[in-house]
Amino acid sequence: METIVDYKTMGGGVAVITLNRAEAANALSREMLRELDRLLDGIEFNPGIRGVILTGSGEKAFCAGADLKERAGMNDREVKETVALIGKVVTKLERLPQPTAAAINGACFGGGLELALACDIRMAADSAKMGLTETSLGIIPGAGGTQRLPRLIGISRAKELIYTARRINAQDALTYGLISYAAPQEDLLDRAMELMLEISKNGPIAVQQAKKAIDLGGQGDLETGLSIEKICYSVTIPTRDRQEGLLAFKEKRQPQYTGE
Ligand code: COA
Repeated sequence: METIVDYKTMGGGVAVITLNRAEAANALSREMLRELDRLLDGIEFNPGIRGVILTGSGEKAFCAGADLKERAGMNDREVKETVALIGKVVTKLERLPQPTAAAINGACFGGGLELALACDIRMAADSAKMGLTETSLGIIPGAGGTQRLPRLIGISRAKELIYTARRINAQDALTYGLISYAAPQEDLLDRAMELMLEISKNGPIAVQQAKKAIDLGGQGDLETGLSIEKICYSVTIPTRDRQEGLLAFKEKRQPQYTGE
């Protein structure tokens, strides 16, 4: 059955979430947000999932942001609620314990880029365009864009992009450090899968604790960050995976991690 958010698990425990409203440039309707919210809840507590790829259906759009047609019929209170819902879903994506990658297959604007910014790694099709376009609509990014973009690419460039509402191409996004890779459209998902498989062969507890250490530790001063790293490291010490890593090294074979 066709769903508004497509979900499948691939080899290596990699989940692929596909925003599936190609006819509306995969814009974030309330129905789509609720479905995404539900899916993310399921992923968070699924130990079988070792990585998540987020992409859009079709070749034109990753996600064109908030559903502007739906928005046009809302009163102020509904707008507030919907902006809060987008923010909640974006933060839930960011806080997934598993590593995440956005495979930006086309237009990626407003809330679409805010979703991508909440992923650990971003890659884009050569043809993709990206931007926080909100000021051109008389609003500002409301799902973390004003906070996550400057943290990623620096305050000055983020201000320029947000003030101008500019739509940049994949090459510029690469130069700015907004994405890590650009790939031909037809290779994009394969590249994302390759990356996730490279990650998922490592100890899942270790990868998740590394993510936590980077995300939480990066928010404060170095001393606090180092203390957070220590706590995250200590989680890996009593694990079977740590023993398996040592044993596999001794036996000169690939480790088989189970996430225990
Ligand atoms: N909300 C609702 N519908 C949207 C949408 C959005 N954010 N973005 C695109 N759509 C719809 C279009 O209205 C169109 O529907 P229609 O066929 O019923 O008219 C369909 O998706 C395809 O879009 P269209 O503009 O015809 O295709 P395109 O390939 O020329 O352009 C975009 C695609 C995404 C570049 C362009 O639609 C766009 O700029 N959208 C707005 C993006 C934006 O600023 N988002 C930030 C919101 S805060």
